[in-house]
Amino acid sequence: MKPSRRSFLEATLALPVFLDPASSFAATAPRAEVAASKDSSFDPWVEIHRDNLRHNVLEISRRAENRPILAVIKNNGYGMGVANVAQLLEPQPEIFGFAVVKLHEAISLRDAGIRKPILLLGPFDEQNLEDAVARNIMPMVYTPLGPAFDKIAAKMQKPVPLHICIDTGIGRVGVPYHQAAPLIRELASRKSVQIQGTMMTFTEDPEFDKEQLRRFHETCSALEKDNIALGKKHAASSFTLFQHPEAFLDMVRPGMAIYGIYSENEFRHAAIMDLRPAISLKARVIYVKKLRRGDSAGYNRAYIAKDDVWVATLPVGHTDGWPRNAALSHDKGAKVRINGELYPVIASVSASHCILEIGREERVKIGDTASFFDWQPGSRPEDVSESCGASVYDLTMHLNPLLPRRIV
Ligand SMILES: Cc1ncc(COP(=O)(O)O)c(C=O)c1O
Repeated sequence: MKPSRRSFLEATLALPVFLDPASSFAATAPRAEVAASKDSSFDPWVEIHRDNLRHNVLEISRRAENRPILAVIKNNGYGMGVANVAQLLEPQPEIFGFAVVKLHEAISLRDAGIRKPILLLGPFDEQNLEDAVARNIMPMVYTPLGPAFDKIAAKMQKPVPLHICIDTGIGRVGVPYHQAAPLIRELASRKSVQIQGTMMTFTEDPEFDKEQLRRFHETCSALEKDNIALGKKHAASSFTLFQHPEAFLDMVRPGMAIYGIYSENEFRHAAIMDLRPAISLKARVIYVKKLRRGDSAGYNRAYIAKDDVWVATLPVGHTDGWPRNAALSHDKGAKVRINGELYPVIASVSASHCILEIGREERVKIGDTASFFDWQPGSRPEDVSESCGASVYDLTMHLNPLLPRRIV
């Protein structure tokens, strides 16, 4: 019977530990211990580099001339684990607080003991709002929710702190700037509401950003003239940190720069901030073999060996967050570091595997650690992004949340 794709994948996954005589693990590990294992030591993992994270925060603070940093840690802390990142960042005095999109992330931060301010950028219903406020989580508001705040404030016996979001052109969330004044006046007039911040998001179109900032200033000044307190004004993402110092306002609000990754490749060479990647994806080689000239690799025989060549199989695929387009095509493709050398990803990236071309010599062995991206030049996330077109946001945020996170 022809094996199905599923049975093929299961069979290959089982091979390295039990069948390969070259694996020292297979030779030495007692059966009882293997049976007790929950995860394979060959499984991929994500590393979080504490010192790099700290360094990046200091760099951002220097660039923002000591303005407070509202750290965007949405989408599982850009792949690092939302609570991990918050716990590492919270002790740094430069960090004012945290912004997330999903309510469950905000709640998990409080459950993990995070005490600094948390801003919820995502949607909520009235019950969600009450649950959030009870945990001292601030909502981002742009609709007429005054009556809901009255109810919650009466119950809590204190006004509800919140941030207002103004849409100056991104068209996503936020009250349109030309309709913002009446909404903000109405909210500010309520005893139940305490406006602690007012924010906007740039489209990151350098020319239009200037017009967006003008709209924001115009809207805010008109309200401030009438003594409406808007709290801390903030707009600056990582892109803005590089492009628009005039938009740093009262507080900056970066995500990607905190994790040490340049959101645009051109910023790497701008000498504005020295960012050090604080996240790596790693795994151990599960199989090494020699393909003969004409042998194929990958679904649809995506790779045909032009000569005899050694290849290595890694237990990392698109289900782990490694992009499908990392495999070499038209001379472009990501490279993976093993023992200091970079090897191209070939064939196709399947759900749980990818294959590297090692070359004429057998230069790697089963069990060697492979780094899919890390902080080293040549294997930074930006290098992977440049080589295969995957966005650095996808590389980090699409990392499977179930992969183990190790803080180093
Ligand atoms: C509202 C808002 N502010 C700030 C950020 C941080 O952006 P970046 O990771 O590019 O710094 C994001 C992320 O997309 C965002 O949605």
